[in-house]
Amino acid sequence: MASDKISRVGVVGAGQMGGGIAEVCARAGADVLVYEATRELVAAGRARILRSLDRGVSSGKLTEREREDAAAKLRFTCDLGDFADRQLVCEAVIEDELVKIQTFADLDKVVTDPGAVLASNTSSIPIMKLGMATQDAGRVIGMHFFNPVPVLPLVELVTTLMTSNHVSARAEAFAHDVLGKQVVRSADRSGFVVNSLLVPYLLSAIRMAESGFATAEDIDKAMVLGCAHPMGPLKLTDLVGLDTVKAIADKMYEEFKEPLYAPPPLLLRMVEAGRLGKKAGHGFYRYTEAGAGKQG
Ligand code: 3HC
Repeated sequence: MASDKISRVGVVGAGQMGGGIAEVCARAGADVLVYEATRELVAAGRARILRSLDRGVSSGKLTEREREDAAAKLRFTCDLGDFADRQLVCEAVIEDELVKIQTFADLDKVVTDPGAVLASNTSSIPIMKLGMATQDAGRVIGMHFFNPVPVLPLVELVTTLMTSNHVSARAEAFAHDVLGKQVVRSADRSGFVVNSLLVPYLLSAIRMAESGFATAEDIDKAMVLGCAHPMGPLKLTDLVGLDTVKAIADKMYEEFKEPLYAPPPLLLRMVEAGRLGKKAGHGFYRYTEAGAGKQG
């Protein structure tokens, strides 16, 4: 078995979450290989990570030298076959069960280290379903990061009935000792700890706006000023992405059949309309390049 210390990381998907995970791994000194399906997606993912590193410099979190060192640790590929030597792979593709299952089936064939950690950043899909797509479910675990990944210090670690103790210890050591994240452990239940609490709250806020109870701006203002939340629930829904919130709610509803997890019609209509939140420039608010959120 290879050395326990993880220094070679693979990240599948260079979107909002994958890009953030790749960035924090590179900033921690790991050699990071990022997969995206096309050259266009690679270019967009690379640009997003470099913008975030620039933001780290402009906010005094990183020196110019640290930004250059992190950027030099990042490589990109459109061939998952390049992941053969990875000791940890974090999957961060879209929140779609079939796409994730296929990704784990592919990773299982490619990654050669029998003690490698095959981690999913899923918010809501039971990790066991991904483990069973592989020949060795002992390698599969949930490592759930939070958006923006460079800022939020939590990783939820989700072990299944099959995850080996070695893999869970290796993943926890990497998240805590290398990335400097705080780790909480959750059972393998859709939504884990954070989304089991957060998603009903976000959906309640959407229902409140939908019923005309209060405006989006006032709902957000109320929670920021009344409860000291860093942002209100509708702005947070925009940040996470309405399609992602819907996908998580669907999975949690499928698992528990609780009405509080059922996505309200307004959320469904906005997703159908392409009003997916900040990444689309329009959700509960409108966004300019500068990222300002105006109601509309
Ligand atoms: N890279 C590095 N640093 C960043 C950054 C980035 N991409 N984005 C923000 N920062 C830093 C800033 O430098 C700043 O640092 P400072 O306070 O030391 O100066 C700090 O983070 C706050 O940023 P800003 O002052 O620019 O902006 P805000 O004060 O408006 O904060 C926010 C923005 C960090 C997004 C804050 O509003 C926040 O934490 N919101 C809540 C986010 C949240 O709840 N995320 C969880 C979503 S759920 C999830 O991800 C799970 C999934 O499964 C759904």
